[in-house]
Amino acid sequence: MQDSYWYKDAVFYEVYVRAFFDSNADGHGDLPGLLQKLDYLQALGVDCLWLMPVYPSPLKDDGYDIASYYGIQPVFGSLDDFKELVEAAHARGIRIIMDLVLNHTSDQHPWFQLARSDPNSPYRDYYVWSDSDQHYKDARIIFLDTEKSNWTWDEVAGQYYWHRFYASQPDLNYDNPAVQAEMINVAKFWLDLGIDGFRADAIPYLFEREGTNCENLPETHAYLKQLRSYVERHYPGRILLCEANQWPQDVRPYFGEGDEFHMGFHFPVMPRIFMSIHMGDRTPLAWILEHTPEIPSSCQWCTFLRNHDELTLEMVTEEERQWMWQVYAPEPRMRLNLGIRRRLAPLLDYDRRRIELANSLLFTLPGSPILYYGDEIGMGDNIWLTDRNGVRTPMQWNDGPNAGFSQATPNLLYTPVIEDPISGPEVVNVARQQADAGSLLNLIRRMIALRKQHPAFGRGSFAWLQNDCEAVAAFQRALPEDSLWCFHNLSAEAQSVPLPEHPGQALYDLFTGRVLPPSAGQLDLEPYQYVWLCLQQV
Ligand code: GLC
Repeated sequence: MQDSYWYKDAVFYEVYVRAFFDSNADGHGDLPGLLQKLDYLQALGVDCLWLMPVYPSPLKDDGYDIASYYGIQPVFGSLDDFKELVEAAHARGIRIIMDLVLNHTSDQHPWFQLARSDPNSPYRDYYVWSDSDQHYKDARIIFLDTEKSNWTWDEVAGQYYWHRFYASQPDLNYDNPAVQAEMINVAKFWLDLGIDGFRADAIPYLFEREGTNCENLPETHAYLKQLRSYVERHYPGRILLCEANQWPQDVRPYFGEGDEFHMGFHFPVMPRIFMSIHMGDRTPLAWILEHTPEIPSSCQWCTFLRNHDELTLEMVTEEERQWMWQVYAPEPRMRLNLGIRRRLAPLLDYDRRRIELANSLLFTLPGSPILYYGDEIGMGDNIWLTDRNGVRTPMQWNDGPNAGFSQATPNLLYTPVIEDPISGPEVVNVARQQADAGSLLNLIRRMIALRKQHPAFGRGSFAWLQNDCEAVAAFQRALPEDSLWCFHNLSAEAQSVPLPEHPGQALYDLFTGRVLPPSAGQLDLEPYQYVWLCLQQV
């Protein structure tokens, strides 16, 4: 675990602790439960877990509403459990990053309680107050389906307070140096416990300035650079991953000159993977990659197909959004805010070929991939649950009671297990897929293993391989010592594409072991087929 650029090769896995495994039969997944499942994650081959928030919280935004930064939500376990988990994960070569929620707290946080009840409290200035709700009019509302304004009147304080998310999540005031210092302390506390870094939540919104949209402000970058320099000085090798749901040119500054974030999610590439697959046309994908700027060599994009939120359609045009809703969210219940609240497998109609194809793109495009728990077995969703809860249901371990997730009586579960004939635990579960060599789980494991054998996936250059067939996305990932050609037939029809000249080199198919000779001039692809070829000197 010595390489300080480890994140460039790593495969990440997002864990919703509450959904993963319940060790004490109370109906909620917990840290000791996750610890028991480390063997599973190790066998899958993932390198780093991202834990969704596990801090004390009223759970009005599933833990992204933090009531104390220095503890563990009791139903998830204790700080000792947390330390044990970190140690056990490290012993298996698995790293752990956590959410660092900088922008806001819960309204239950003692800082907010003190702030609202006493205008003279030093905590008053920890938040953003106003006598009027007319400021910062150019800031958009993010949770469009629930919030009417970014200002909410507080009876106790007799003023409005500012919030970019739910009203129960007041924004911290980063103009106050005490807030800036507090949050560095929070980072220190967890890094001292040995974690490997943070996924920094909702970072574009730290500062507000009149006349701007209050996103990506220079003051925000200046503070984040301070945070980075603190981490760099005291905890080299630990990483900061940036959640900024923005266009690539606006995310670019979050990498700074290699002195801000190590990693940033590539939000707009995600919907374009779905667009390209549905259209059977690489154009959307090609367009966004063309519009993705270079980043410093020490930095890395983070790619994903799905996560715990809605599949966001903020980074597409209005026309594209309407189209995506039409094809991927035909029922109104499937939509939320500017997105789609569904999981990967149901989005792709449980079609194994397209699920594999999407994963192949995830694992071969530039960036480090993040898997969302359950997607490796093709779990379904429950659109009858509210908000984003339909994609946060219990992990399906086997076909026993509660899908093997918990021994509690079912009415105690934090949310019901999926019940449907296509994706319920009778059909979709880990045990079954472990026993089946041809399962999706084993395929994903294979993809991860192959990716790890080939450093070009994490660190290599990217170039399109020219071909006139728009249904095929073909590109090269290359380092001087490792050269790969990846082909994706995005369409439902068989395709045949020319192979670039490769004199003196055979092409070795990483999945099948088939070898194409230096003279091979063409590659035939079945509908939705993907092929990873490695160039080998003959
Ligand atoms: C991020 C999280 C999301 C949360 C929001 C507010 O976007 O991914 O789940 O609701 O921040 O903290």
